[in-house]
Amino acid sequence: MSVNISEDGKFFHLRTKHSSYIFNVMENGELGQLYFGKRIHSQNSYGNLAKKERREAMVSWTTTADDFQPDNLKQEYASFGKGDFRDPAYQVTAENGSRISELHYESYQLEKGKNRLSDLPSAFGKASDDVETLEIFLRDSLLDLKVILKYSVFPNEDVITKSVEFINLGQQHLNLNRALSSQLDLPDDQYDLISFSGSWARERHEVVDRLKSGVQSISSLRTASSHQHNPFVMLARPDATEDQGDVFGFNLIYSGNFLDQVEVSSYSSTRVLQGINPEEFAWEVKPDDHFQTPEAVLSFSGQGKNQLSQQMGDFYEKHLVNPRFANQQRPVLVNNWEATYFDFDENKLIAIAKKAAELGIELFVLDDGWFGHRDDDTSSLGDWFVDQNKLPQGLAHLSNQVHQLGLKFGLWFEPEMISIDSKLYEQHPEWMIATPGRTPTPGRNQFVLDFTRDEVIDYIFDMMSARIEESKLDYIKWDMNRYITDMFSSNLSRSNQLEMSHRYILGVYKLYQRLIDRFPEVLFESCASGGGRFDLGLMYYAPQAWTSDDTDAVERILIQYGTSYGYPLSMIGAHVSDVPNYQTGRVTSFASRGQVAYFGDLGYELDITKLSEKDQSEIQKQVAFYKKYRQIFQFGNFYRLQSPFAGDHNVASWMVVNQDKTTAIAARYQILNRPNPSYLRIYFKGLDAAKAYRVNNSEEIFYGDELMNAGFFVDQILNINQPIQGSADFSSQLFVITEA
Ligand code: DGJ
Repeated sequence: MSVNISEDGKFFHLRTKHSSYIFNVMENGELGQLYFGKRIHSQNSYGNLAKKERREAMVSWTTTADDFQPDNLKQEYASFGKGDFRDPAYQVTAENGSRISELHYESYQLEKGKNRLSDLPSAFGKASDDVETLEIFLRDSLLDLKVILKYSVFPNEDVITKSVEFINLGQQHLNLNRALSSQLDLPDDQYDLISFSGSWARERHEVVDRLKSGVQSISSLRTASSHQHNPFVMLARPDATEDQGDVFGFNLIYSGNFLDQVEVSSYSSTRVLQGINPEEFAWEVKPDDHFQTPEAVLSFSGQGKNQLSQQMGDFYEKHLVNPRFANQQRPVLVNNWEATYFDFDENKLIAIAKKAAELGIELFVLDDGWFGHRDDDTSSLGDWFVDQNKLPQGLAHLSNQVHQLGLKFGLWFEPEMISIDSKLYEQHPEWMIATPGRTPTPGRNQFVLDFTRDEVIDYIFDMMSARIEESKLDYIKWDMNRYITDMFSSNLSRSNQLEMSHRYILGVYKLYQRLIDRFPEVLFESCASGGGRFDLGLMYYAPQAWTSDDTDAVERILIQYGTSYGYPLSMIGAHVSDVPNYQTGRVTSFASRGQVAYFGDLGYELDITKLSEKDQSEIQKQVAFYKKYRQIFQFGNFYRLQSPFAGDHNVASWMVVNQDKTTAIAARYQILNRPNPSYLRIYFKGLDAAKAYRVNNSEEIFYGDELMNAGFFVDQILNINQPIQGSADFSSQLFVITEA
């Protein structure tokens, strides 16, 4: 049993293998939060956890219960305006303009398993996995508003999902001003807030802030999860490390405007709110109508951050990713973008595909520029028919040849976008998002289609379906290269304009789902100018994502290391590209580029037809090596060994280990070389202490406990004596550890 309910029906204890989450019905009929953390025994009541003290100068529930002071309590889903002055989890405006509500407990329902939400990406689970779903029914009787708090417990992965449904049972039109997915009130504030922030080409760098009194948050108002902030955050005890200490992980299965907010109260309790950003959001709930929030993911690890990443990653593989692709090895791809940009014809593409086949690559991806008359980024978005000048024999012909070479064929789309210079705009200027009377704001010379309109989605669906069918597509790269501005939809009435961002994302999800239903075999990779929509909402449809447009090996260490906290390697698209690198101008060796890109879904993004014989044979070796260990690189247990965000930022290392701990691969990266350095050992993790191993086919045999506790001597002199392209900077070393 994952959910224990006390005999009096007032205490709810959600238990995973290693964590407990407890809440109760308080004396005013609302829900209180009692505990989330290391697993504890189940009891019939939790007087100790529910203890409170009356404090001066506070608002009380009633004159007779003056020790019941809402601002002083840990609550489960706090309302606004009845004495809790922290930011609430939701707020409703009634027809008379009142924004006050009270949600009283009515009943619960407990079921085995976990169903998907209907219009939103969400987790799913079977009863046979011990997954249980608890629904708590609350009601504001004055508004006749029913609210269902939905909890699903995934005991084996130590994850709890939460979402909320609002149902209007009354006669008034209600307006939700905020409707967050999850609230968690913790009893103290001794935590670091760890978030993953950055910008285009610098995504998901680790940022650590101590909690302090007041509000700290990360968010997006770009109608995308964004490059700037990622919905995944952790709260960690300051002494927590990768291997020990208490850490909470929070994520949201959502791709639009989000908010992750932490508020420390005057009594040093901590409130964590997650959900749709209340800024630029409102939702009308008409009589008999309902509103479902996206789902939040919560996880606790008492064994440090690495354990948290692993359990959340396992959860996504088993309970979020399209089961058709979960644990399915991802193909090694070549993408023509950085090889040709817009300048290609069929011959050039076929030459790349032929070379790719020779080198063992499995998927050829034709990127931007194959449609309309798109010779640069100023035109043709929306015109999803082939450019006859570049590909006079059509897509099917190209795809046929690629298939005949034994490769899979993939195609780039940017379905949500429109160029002014396009046939689509000539026919349907009204489909473009713009505010009447104002000049629309371009981004990369392009504009956005109003995905709140079904006719827009139908049109794009038909266009994409035709291309998928004619070219028997195996893979789609779904790009999205600008954030959304000028928020206005002629599809929505004046009072519903604030619904637009969320409706837009629902439209994106709708198109994804329709394509997946019709073409279940197609593998989707999501992309948004690199990693601008690297989130769980899209992971549900697209099991892999383009991590960043920055393919420089050194920058990629930071990006992939940061990303690994919240997302599994199977989601991380990682390519070897040309040097000097387009983003940084840096020259790194082929080996280093490969040794960074191995830790994810490997691809190549350069003109492989122009490479020297030596580099070509290097690719061949890399691909063969990767394929040999692909299962571990994509689905093994990942361990962060040394952080590039720590110390002098000069070294990083990480490793992957297979399930039975017979094979592991570690990599150590050194950014700048240092003269006459100190002796060095690398301390591996995740091995079997009792197993004997060889490292890089060594004659010497080492026990797992030696490799993990005493470390493995790293020969640095050897490294310096083998300078790479004239420089020993940006070097990397790989350690293949196999059971002896
Ligand atoms: C941005 C993506 O991140 C790139 O990989 C490439 O697909 C370009 N868009 C194409 O316009």
